[in-house]
Amino acid sequence: MKNIVILISGRGSNMQAIVDACAREAWPARVAAVVASRPDAPGLAVAASAGIATAAVDYRDFAEREAFDAALAAVVDRYQPDVVVLAGFMRVLTTAFVERYAGRMLNIHPSLLPSFPGLKTHQRALEAGVAVHGATVHFVTPRLDYGPIVIQAAVPVLAGDDEKRLAARVLASEHVIYPRAVRWFVEERLALDGTRVQVTPNEPQWMFNDVSGEAA
Ligand code: GAR
Repeated sequence: MKNIVILISGRGSNMQAIVDACAREAWPARVAAVVASRPDAPGLAVAASAGIATAAVDYRDFAEREAFDAALAAVVDRYQPDVVVLAGFMRVLTTAFVERYAGRMLNIHPSLLPSFPGLKTHQRALEAGVAVHGATVHFVTPRLDYGPIVIQAAVPVLAGDDEKRLAARVLASEHVIYPRAVRWFVEERLALDGTRVQVTPNEPQWMFNDVSGEAA
């Protein structure tokens, strides 16, 4: 049984999707804890009501990134994580933290990396006029929003899209690909080959969002 520790900063809808899939699909794993970077993260209550241990390390209590990350690692390590899952965790992590969980920390980012690392991805995609946008699950390396890609979801940018509509379309596909990626990890199906990630047995490491049912 593998221990999953999920780090959040806000709403926690990806965390919820992982918690639900883990139970529904009987993964060889359990969500051991959900840890937030702020005590008022709404996702904490969601996790607690699912019977999951929760904790918060308030980033505002720390003047230095290093001290915050050390406190965060101390809490995370209490739950003996086999995999650390960043799910809307909005703090930039130090190299020391990233290296502590090298090869066992995943992140989801709301763009087709390496396009649009950083913030405001949907707004920037609209401004750039791209026809396809999406989300990426990747192993975390010290460089922000980089690292070997596990799975990507592409969604079309449709006429009349604004940031909200586009974000909702991307989020719906995040809820499909993130549980899939974490499941592959806990089933020990992921192998790193340089900068590439292989899934064994082979499965598509991409999806295209079917928007045929989407309200106009
Ligand atoms: C998600 O869209 C996730 O991709 C994004 O924050 C949102 C969190 O939503 N993450 C980042 O921007 C990280 N750079 P959630 O709390 O409902 O899962």
